[in-house]
Amino acid sequence: MIILGIETSCDETAAAVVVDGIQILSSVVSSQIDIHHPYGGVVPELASRKHMEAIVPVVIEALAVSGMDSKQLDAIAVTQGPGLVGALLVGFCFAKSFAFALDIPWVGVNHLEGHINSLFLEENPPSFPFVALLASGGHTSIYHVTSHTGFELVGQTRDDAAGEAFDKVAKMLGLGYPGGGVIDRLATQGDSKNIVFPRPFLDKSTFDFSFSGLKTAVRRYIQKNMDTYQQQIPDIAAGFQEAVVDVLSFKVVHAAMMKGCEHIALVGGVAANNRLRERVRQEADLKGLTVHIPCIDLCGDNAAMIAAIGYHYLIAGTVSGLCDDVYSRARLR
Ligand code: KG4
Ligand code: ZN
Repeated sequence: MIILGIETSCDETAAAVVVDGIQILSSVVSSQIDIHHPYGGVVPELASRKHMEAIVPVVIEALAVSGMDSKQLDAIAVTQGPGLVGALLVGFCFAKSFAFALDIPWVGVNHLEGHINSLFLEENPPSFPFVALLASGGHTSIYHVTSHTGFELVGQTRDDAAGEAFDKVAKMLGLGYPGGGVIDRLATQGDSKNIVFPRPFLDKSTFDFSFSGLKTAVRRYIQKNMDTYQQQIPDIAAGFQEAVVDVLSFKVVHAAMMKGCEHIALVGGVAANNRLRERVRQEADLKGLTVHIPCIDLCGDNAAMIAAIGYHYLIAGTVSGLCDDVYSRARLR
């Protein structure tokens, strides 16, 4: 089944052509980072407008790179939510109209299910059941994954998402948006032992997270050291990142052990973090667990993961209709 995937939930306009939910023929991502960078975060109205400009060229490019003609598509999968409503509507309405014009089925899918299914676009996907840490700009949750579409929530953030904490700390340090990649890079030039920040909820009694207090601790440190903190930015970045990574890696490994799973997966934008990838691999090794992390391009938002999850709904006969609408918030089943 040849599926065109479409993703416009936040600040990436993406389209991809994927065969049978596993083989990527093309994956085009047009990022709006330059537009939102000066504002220190995504401006929803600007995001919608940029998706409007980008959606047709991005789909045309995805088809061209895949070598497929639109008439060869069997179906379309599109992100229905969660995300920014104005942004989602651009991809969703495009998918609806394109599928109607081509007279093929289409399905709206959950963005978070897409992130988890990004694992199956890689060579050695995990076998079910496995435990997945989904850490992105909007979500930080641990799931016990029993099938492509079966998820049990094990723990989640009670306030900020991990990626949001990276973005807010980067903004405080004047590093622009998004903050994850730049903190990841700067941390390699600092020493995480020089400034030690709190490790919120670092115990086995809960699999929930909390990153808001950590963010406030960084703000207080900056306020207390107004005259000197500029010279300490690499150490602040390293200290903050180590605190986040300590909590994330400890919890995902213990969740896998609690659930009796031998496979752990990291997905979502924060799974691109080099220190997190390294630490989870180290800790999983000690416990004899296998770790699965998609390549960097598949960690961030993309449309190949949307086609991958869409495939499983479509083969089960689930399709969307012209009256269906997007949603801004959602939990996995
Ligand atoms: O999954 P994603 O692309 O979009 C959402 O669904 O939110 O995740 C974006 C988030 C941003 O908060 C960004 O700062 C973070 O992922 N991120 C990182 C890294 N690369 C992206 N966080 C930590 N380290 C990175 N290398
Ligand atoms: Zn995402």
